[in-house]
Amino acid sequence: MRLGNLLIDNPFVQAPMAGWTDAPFRTVARRFHDGLLYTEMVSAEALCRGNRRTLDYCRIDERHHPVALQLVGHDAGRLAEAARIAARFRPDFIDLNAGCPDLKMIMQGSGGALLRKPEKLAAIVSKVAGSVRTPVSVKLRLGWGRDDSVRIGKMLEGTGAAFLTFNCYMVTQGHSGPGDREALRRVVEEVDLPVIANGGVRDEEDAVAMLKFTGAGGVMMGRSTRGRPDRPKTACDLLNEGTFKGMDIETLGKTVREHARLECGMFGEERGMGRMRKHLHWYLKAGGADNRKLPVDRLSTMEGLDRLLERALGHSR
Ligand SMILES: Cc1cc2nc3c(=O)[nH]c(=O)nc-3n(C[C@H](O)[C@H](O)[C@H](O)COP(=O)(O)O)c2cc1C
Repeated sequence: MRLGNLLIDNPFVQAPMAGWTDAPFRTVARRFHDGLLYTEMVSAEALCRGNRRTLDYCRIDERHHPVALQLVGHDAGRLAEAARIAARFRPDFIDLNAGCPDLKMIMQGSGGALLRKPEKLAAIVSKVAGSVRTPVSVKLRLGWGRDDSVRIGKMLEGTGAAFLTFNCYMVTQGHSGPGDREALRRVVEEVDLPVIANGGVRDEEDAVAMLKFTGAGGVMMGRSTRGRPDRPKTACDLLNEGTFKGMDIETLGKTVREHARLECGMFGEERGMGRMRKHLHWYLKAGGADNRKLPVDRLSTMEGLDRLLERALGHSR
């Protein structure tokens, strides 16, 4: 997959997910594949104000490349300023969020609200792309309440955007409902920019089917990577070799422990373990464990994690 000047072997992309794709998650994902990773979305306003937690979200480890740092905001000047700050973290792309359906974002005129005014979005992308040397990309949906994707995509052609990621839902659909892959196929055909297809991919087979059906340069996977940071690799294996092998129990146990150690290293044991619990639910599900019977939500220490893994997966270090 070619994105701007970058050639990436794996066409399957890890989606940005707030609260999930932090630096520890990215380090773990990188153990499995060389595909494009994303940070969580970062508030342009908070970045301009120098908010410490926001700066933490921008931390990029050498191992994370290729990686996109995603900004969310609504004002072209502030986004351009935030992009200049973001560029100091040396991401491979600065991505602009024009799809988030959260009410808080919409009320601010950010995220998906930008699709109500595509002219404003195009002006923002031009301004940001003209302010930094880092290539700029845009992650958006088909439209606000109806499919407007080809028109919006064409408006973004002359802005300097390196590529577009289209989620096959409308903003008003949130994260549910049927996605429109036909619409993605039309965008790929008609818009003169590399397109990554996103939305509703269930598993490896579905990821490969989405890639083939849409003809997109790549496919981005979000919810299906929870507890499965290896999925962009297994999807790529399926594409190239016709078969794939998921994590075995030992790899799963090792991955969970490394992920937890990294979360605790970055945020301290109490907060790190707190952040880890939601991941653990999904890791255990991936391992076939019945996590309803396990004290995942009371987990607060690494020793507790070891005991829990022993019980759930029957796996020792
Ligand atoms: C918990 C969660 C957090 C998300 N955070 C972001 C985000 O920070 N930036 C963004 O562009 N999209 C975000 N998304 C949307 C995903 O990147 C993706 O577009 C969406 O989930 C559809 O892909 P999927 O069906 O493969 O999950 C988030 C989605 C979820 C479920």
